[in-house]
Amino acid sequence: MTVRSLHPPAPDRKAEAPSKGPLVRRLPRLLCSLLLVASAGATATGSASAADSEDARSVIPLDHVVPAPVSVRPAGDPYAIGSRTVIRVPDRSREARKAAEQLAGLLRPSTGLALPVTSRGGQDGIVLRLGGDRELGSEGYRLDSSRRSVTITARKAAGLFHGIQTLRQLLPASVEKGERQPGPWRVAGGTITDTPRFAYRGAMLDVSRHFFTVGQVKRYIDQMALYKINTFHLHLSDDQGWRIAIDSWPRLATYGGSTQVGGGPGGFYTKDDYREIVRYAADRQVEIVPEIDMPGHTNAALASYAELNCNGVAPPLYTGTEVGFSSLCVPKEITYDFVDDVVREVAAMTPGRYLHIGGDEAHSTSHEDYVAFMDRAQAAVAKYGKTVVGWHQLTGAKPVKGAVAQYWGTTGTEQEVVDAAKAGTRLVLSPANRIYLDMKYTKDTPLGLSWAGYVEVRQSYDWDPGAYIKDTPSSAILGVEAPLWSETLSTSDHIEFMAFPRLAGVAELGWSQAAALDWDSYRTRLAAQGPRWSALGIDFYRSPQVPWPAE
Ligand code: ACM
Repeated sequence: MTVRSLHPPAPDRKAEAPSKGPLVRRLPRLLCSLLLVASAGATATGSASAADSEDARSVIPLDHVVPAPVSVRPAGDPYAIGSRTVIRVPDRSREARKAAEQLAGLLRPSTGLALPVTSRGGQDGIVLRLGGDRELGSEGYRLDSSRRSVTITARKAAGLFHGIQTLRQLLPASVEKGERQPGPWRVAGGTITDTPRFAYRGAMLDVSRHFFTVGQVKRYIDQMALYKINTFHLHLSDDQGWRIAIDSWPRLATYGGSTQVGGGPGGFYTKDDYREIVRYAADRQVEIVPEIDMPGHTNAALASYAELNCNGVAPPLYTGTEVGFSSLCVPKEITYDFVDDVVREVAAMTPGRYLHIGGDEAHSTSHEDYVAFMDRAQAAVAKYGKTVVGWHQLTGAKPVKGAVAQYWGTTGTEQEVVDAAKAGTRLVLSPANRIYLDMKYTKDTPLGLSWAGYVEVRQSYDWDPGAYIKDTPSSAILGVEAPLWSETLSTSDHIEFMAFPRLAGVAELGWSQAAALDWDSYRTRLAAQGPRWSALGIDFYRSPQVPWPAE
């Protein structure tokens, strides 16, 4: 079994700024290619004047999008966003108007344009329309761009939102800046039709090893939403800190949340903070999955309440990075009062479908106790109307019907996991040697751990989630999720340096069709994201595997 603590943890890097290193590749040729209009689009118009084709050169090709869309058909002239552009919401839907206001809020600062949102009819401008083909499903969209208009059509608000993220990527990176930029703001002509491969496309943040504020969490949500990630798993409790207020057991947060790795002050989310995170995420079509890790990884809870310990003695708070030493007391009935109360309160403030009960690295719990405990914890989750998610060790117990197991191994061959998938347990894939974002990129990466190896950008991207688990069809895979454990991470810069570029690749693995997963295509499209991240203030890892354009 993989044990994270077997590998020496990196020292606390709090004070250490992520290094960019001498890795920036300056490839002007790529920049030129990015500036060329999609050739099919240019030829399709036929009648473009010299001035038009001059203009067209500043258009990003329609297929330079991450994640790769299902279908891209370049055609016709670009649309130019300008002083007369309005954002139309023809069907007066509240959700479409909200999406339109979000788009306007995104475009106004950098373009300096008024971009009024209107429900008045008309075929010009940017049009957000609810409707379209059934095949678009709950998250798909169609984007049609021509000289007259850009129209995004979707059956649901999530599709409009995802279409807007595509539109963002079709505009110059400077659109992401907070102050006025020169433009021009052109969108290549043609049609994109797009739907996701997997329903669950996730990121996880460990707010227990180091606490992250609501503002830091929102910043990360914004970043994941740009790539159509729709699930944000918050690892809310662990040995080092309990991060969510529970009214019936108040010391969990006030005492159990009072420190972190390295001994800093820690912190916790009030219920209002948590609701604010949920609301903010929902506005960006992201569902929150709260995790209360049990029966191991519970030192913060055991330190807060002596009665949860089998010997009745509360251990001290813990600020190190070992794992596997703590366990709730399985034979004691009060343990299940605790589980019931916590699950009830967390479920009550979580509108999403899932509640994650951890279950990993319970090395201080006997197998028999583990199975008994997971039975009761799963029952509590069902009692409060949620679907169980557990780390894949849950498959060694008795996953309830409908449960989801999150796979974090490195081979995809564990028989228990394969058998559980055959029996109907759905899998979310987080292979640690692929998409654990806390793994160092190389031996020189100043942050992160390396127990699952070094995970460069290609290693992270170049695999197929549908074919990963032995003898298991793609239909058993609910999706992918990129965890980010925070033993060595304590700032937004740290998060971003480890997440980018790899998180964009996870988004593509989750969204794009298997046939579209191609490293050579991906690395070119990924390179174009670099200037966008710079414009957003994201200090990403400039992997030498990616031909980043000069900035
Ligand atoms: C894990 O990394 N212990 C899920």
